[in-house]
Amino acid sequence: MQHTLMELPFAKDALEPMLSQETIEYHYGKHHAGYVKKLNAQVEKDSRLEGKTILELVKSEKGGVFNNAAQVYNHDFYWNCLVPNDQKGPSRTLEDAMVRDFGSVENCMEEFTQTAATLFGSGWTWLSLNMEGKLVVEKTCNANTPIRYGNVPLLTCDVWEHAFYIDYRNDKAAYINKWWELVNWEFVSQNFDQAKKEDKNYIGPCNDNTPVCDYIDELEGGERVST
Ligand SMILES: [Fe+2]
Repeated sequence: MQHTLMELPFAKDALEPMLSQETIEYHYGKHHAGYVKKLNAQVEKDSRLEGKTILELVKSEKGGVFNNAAQVYNHDFYWNCLVPNDQKGPSRTLEDAMVRDFGSVENCMEEFTQTAATLFGSGWTWLSLNMEGKLVVEKTCNANTPIRYGNVPLLTCDVWEHAFYIDYRNDKAAYINKWWELVNWEFVSQNFDQAKKEDKNYIGPCNDNTPVCDYIDELEGGERVST
């Protein structure tokens, strides 16, 4: 099975002036496409990977295969988080959860901004729903992604330099500030509703006697990389 580069949900110049067409052409057309191409080359060489979905690869693989599969997933998710001219803000149910877990929508956004701005090196910042059903702001290094350790992503900001260097040079804070104007709150709110509906917080406190706990322990102990 060949993995394919997703279609962008907007025109390449639709996010200007916050993100230029040139940035999209490099970020989507070179970097994102490159991860898809490298993953396909890896799958072609290893029949064990044949037929596995991106999510299955992210959850089961390590090393280079994990890196490419996770970067495909992360970028697919990132592009869906962006939309031109969405000013609606979070849904009422998401807003209520942000107030519950951060005190206010503004506090949640401020924590997200600070987390993104202070991420060392390359990585991602996320608003996620954790396994206790609580909203959390978190960051992951390089290709790592919350689905690897069981959290459900609702929103992400790519803070690899390739996401902003053409438009903002080394001013990551300016990128994050403008990036907020592009957030597709409808998508984020739908992710929240879906996560709640599927009751992702079904895993209670782990002990050493169940396969799922062994799996979670293995993920958290071995592969999770965060700063
Ligand atoms: Fe990226």
